[in-house]
Parts: sequence; C-alpha cells; structure tokens
Amino acid sequence: MKILITNIKELLQVRETSIDKVSGSDMKVLPSIKNAFLYLEDDLISDFGKMEDCPNVSVDKKIDATGKIVLPTWIDSHTHLVYAGSREQEFVDRINGLSYEEIFNRGGGILNSAKKLQETSEDDLYEQSKVRLEEVMRQGTGAIEIKSGYGLTLEAEMKMLRVIKRLNENYPIEIKSTFLGAHAFPWEYKDNHKAYIDLICDEMIPKIASEKLADYVDAFLETGYFSVEETSRIMEVGNRYGLKSKIHVNQFTAINGIEACVKNNALSVDHLEIVTDADIEVLKNSITMPVALPTCSYFISIPYTPARKMLEAGLPLALASDFNPGTTPSGNMNFVVATACIKMKMTPEEAINAATINAAYAMDLSKSHGSITKGKKASIIITKPIESFYQIPYAFGSNLIETVIINGAIL
Ligand code: NIG
Ligand code: FE
Repeated sequence: MKILITNIKELLQVRETSIDKVSGSDMKVLPSIKNAFLYLEDDLISDFGKMEDCPNVSVDKKIDATGKIVLPTWIDSHTHLVYAGSREQEFVDRINGLSYEEIFNRGGGILNSAKKLQETSEDDLYEQSKVRLEEVMRQGTGAIEIKSGYGLTLEAEMKMLRVIKRLNENYPIEIKSTFLGAHAFPWEYKDNHKAYIDLICDEMIPKIASEKLADYVDAFLETGYFSVEETSRIMEVGNRYGLKSKIHVNQFTAINGIEACVKNNALSVDHLEIVTDADIEVLKNSITMPVALPTCSYFISIPYTPARKMLEAGLPLALASDFNPGTTPSGNMNFVVATACIKMKMTPEEAINAATINAAYAMDLSKSHGSITKGKKASIIITKPIESFYQIPYAFGSNLIETVIINGAIL
C-alpha cells in the first residue's frame, strides 16, 4: 500500500543518514522539516522532504496533515507486558504505608504475579496480554521488548515466551523477547540460590536458546535479589548462547552492578534510579545504553534517574515504560516522555530522542526504527492539530495522537 502524507506542519526526528544513537549534548537537537511530506510504500519509508518537492504520484491513500506533527513511533525497549491478573491490592497497601520491599517479603510482588501466571492457561495469558499490546499500539508504540520473568519455572517461563512469540506473529508491531528467569528466587530456592542459578544457566538458557524463544537475557541485579556474581554468570552463559543482556540494575542500590554489565557487553542497563559517579565513568565509551523508566519512579515513589548529570557527562539515555503489574501498570510512552520532561528535566527534544532512536538502539533496532530515514520501517505517529511538538509532554493528560501507522498498517 502507498500512503502519501502531505502538508505536515512539522516532521520530527528526520535523519538523512542513519545513526545508531545520540549522546550527551547532541540529544538537545531534534532535526525536523517544517511544511513537509512523507511517502510510505508498503512497510517502508520511501521518501520525505519539503512540501514544494512533494512527488505527484498515484497512491492508495492520501492523508492531509495540515496543522499536525508527524514523528516516528515510540520504541519501548523494556516491558513486562505479558502477565496474569493484576496487583491493585499491593498498590493500596503501599498507599497505606508498606514499601515495595515489605510487600515482596510478605510473598507479594513478583512471586504474587508468578503464582497467578502459573495458574493461568497459555491461551488465557495471550488473551489478557493482547489487550495491553493493542492499547500501547494505539498510544503510539511501534516496537516493543517484552520480558518473561513471572514464570520462574522452565515450563512457565516457556509459556510466557511462547505468548510473546504469538503476539509477534499476530500483530504488525516489532517485538523482541527477553528471558528474565532471574527476576526473583522462587520460594523453594529461598535458601539455595545456587541451585536456582544452576537451573537458569544449565537448563533454562540452553533450552530457550535452542527453541529460539528469546533474543536477550535479563536479571534483577539488586540487593536482596541477584548478586553481581550471580548476574555475571547469567550474562556469560547468555553470551555463549547468543543472548545479549539487558539488565535491571541500580533500582534501589548501587553495588557496582553496572560495571559487571559493561564488562559483559550488555546491550542496556535499565532502571538506574540510583547512579554514582563511578557508574557514570564506567558507562562512558561503552556500548551499553542506559535506560531510564520514569513512570516506575512515579508509581512507586522512588528517585528519578539523574538524567541531567548523565547527559552532561556525555552519555546517551533511552526511555522506556517498564509496563508491569507491580511497579508500572501503564505502557503509555506519551506519559513516559512527559514524566521525563517534568521530573527529570529533560527537554522535549532530549526526551523524544531518548524514546525513539536511543530506545531503538536498546533493542538492536536502530537500523530499521527510531527515525524518519529512507528505508526504515513505515512506523509513525500523526498527532491531532497542535501548536508545536512541545505540547506532547506539556499536555500530559491529553491524548494528542490522531493516527498511528505501524509497519505500513494504519491502525
Ligand atoms: O522492573 N524491578 C524488577 N522488576 C519489575 C517489577 C516487577 C514486579 O513488581 O512485578 C520492574 O520494576
Ligand atoms: Fe522492569
């Protein structure tokens, strides 16, 4: 299908030549074309430019974007969108004074979701998850990473990963899949951590890799969860099986986990609510993308990733939703971008770079996603008529999206 979008008030994130990420002060720049056209052929961006150069071609669909902004879809590089049931009781418990840690220690949190998931059939899990996937697509997400990690047995982890695979097959959105067996120690392994790490490394990773059910491996590297040594072993085994790592780290404490991730060539380190100067030094000149999850900070009232400090040190930064039933029951990337601007003092330009091209890097998609570049995927957002793109984070409670196109398919 050929789609021609004309009279675009401003076409954002235009990159004539493909880049893989933007860092430091370069993130302040969001290249754009005012009064532009965009031509999509099947699932690819075929041409774009100023309106005066708009080609006179016969197309299947013409969209007049007078007064509207067009930008690449959001890329959400960190989610737990496949889960069973919900955990609003823990939300109320937190309002009444319990901490995330206290709830976990009472058998709530991740283990609560694992119990629900183990009791849910694969078809039911698919049905529950697809509702959330359809919602985030309407909210402008055009590529998404989804983790396992609420199974915690080989069988239940594989069930989650098969659901992710089925979503990928049935929807136009690009999905990358991450094995997060090391999300929490199951009760049975409470006093024998080594046995669970052995199970992950000797059985789960080999089996999941042989069935090609995951692209990446993840672990919750945190005090009280998985240690630096345990996570390092998982990353090493992952690397051996072709699964790069994307690691939950520095959410509550800084225990030199980032250094271990960088040493193991992790693709991304995610959360980073607590970041030390040493962590920043380690990330400089590495291939590892730091990923902030501001709506998690918002929902469970923990510090926000120190974006200003990191950008001033020259680092890149990506933004993701962390969509999950415990710490972030929302996958709305518009709200993620707004929260990054409001709470982390990122400019709209920086936040949009972080949620598009840098986010694409954090899931190995910057060759095909994250910018308006010829040959990249035809995955774009068309806003309602708005004054300027600053309204996207400014009007944080409004839905400013009019149309979403993912891989050439108009939703
Ligand atoms: O990214 N921090 C670890 N994992 C999830 C939350 C898991 C849960 O509470 O269900 C997160 O915030
Ligand atoms: Fe997470």
